Amino acid sequence: MKNILITGGAGYIGSHTAVQLFEAGYNPIIIDDLSNSDEKVLDRLEDIIGKRLTFFKGDCSDRSLLDQIATEYEIAGVIHFAAFKAVGESTKQPLKYYQNNIGSLLALLDFMKAKQIKDLVFSSSCTVYGQPDQLPVTEATPRQDAESPYGNTKKICEDILVDFVKSQAGIRVVSLRYFNPVGAHPSGKIGELPIGTPANLVPFVTQTAAGIREKLTIFGDDYDTIDGSCVRDFIHVMDLADAHVKALDYLKEQQDDFYDVFNVGTGNGNTVLEVIRTFEKVNRIKVNFEIGARRPGDVVKIWADTTKINSILHWHPSYSLEDSLRDSWNWQKTL
Ligand code: UD1
Repeated sequence: MKNILITGGAGYIGSHTAVQLFEAGYNPIIIDDLSNSDEKVLDRLEDIIGKRLTFFKGDCSDRSLLDQIATEYEIAGVIHFAAFKAVGESTKQPLKYYQNNIGSLLALLDFMKAKQIKDLVFSSSCTVYGQPDQLPVTEATPRQDAESPYGNTKKICEDILVDFVKSQAGIRVVSLRYFNPVGAHPSGKIGELPIGTPANLVPFVTQTAAGIREKLTIFGDDYDTIDGSCVRDFIHVMDLADAHVKALDYLKEQQDDFYDVFNVGTGNGNTVLEVIRTFEKVNRIKVNFEIGARRPGDVVKIWADTTKINSILHWHPSYSLEDSLRDSWNWQKTL
């Protein structure tokens, strides 16, 4: 079994990826500082896969910890999830975001080069496209100035990876540009665990349905879309996790000094109102909502062209929006 180091592996996307990796025959090793996740996730993962995963509590920019892990385990590849991701917070504390998100990537790359660990899958975001002029967005769609320091860290990290690969450091990298991850493991044992008030749509919807929040506010219904609310490409977290397994498999076949980037979305756009209606329908529950003001910095509409990931990584989503919203609700109910 090849050991894959997963930074941020106790988090939302990281934990689902750990499951998919294990099921594909890899041995996931998790490093997580638990700043935005809970150690109980390790128990839940054990419930799902029947094995206790190796876990190191710490910061993935802690070189002595990384060196210790590499002495104990031969690491075949790294999936780098660990990052801060709250858009609003990043505008108030930009240095925290630049320091953490960029610092951890630099530390990891230096470590990988020193230990001759070749393969890296990096968590990027469709935020790098800003509001694109043409839809759907392909990987060739020009990136735009970031709307937030968070978004800028993703752009800068992509640029760092390009330069590092060019320097012939001997590594192979895929950046995955995630669209909007939703859903949870179908078992209801792991899912998204927002700390405090959720900033993202679906956790807010499930918490409102559960009565934890009184009311969901839809940020604007006067945009140029079919019903006036914003459009996003909502991808089930299990499908997103599977894309990481496919990316690692693909990297193994590449020459040294390889870099490429893939969109990970369904290829379909849904409006915020459609999400709420679909949630109500599949779960037979009402969501209390009101229409509010637009959220500053929101992209009006974006969804992915997935031709590249479909044809090169042979990755196709297998969950629908209905599945995602059913699994998100199922997870909320277990909390
Ligand atoms: C945002 C970031 C994205 C980041 C992601 C991770 C932007 C432009 N994008 O995605 O880079 O990777 O968060 O957290 O900031 N909505 C409501 N009411 C709510 C919450 C959301 O109407 O209470 C709407 C939003 O206006 C938006 C849609 O739901 O139209 C999705 O919002 P959200 O879940 O926050 O994701 P993004 O903004 O797409």
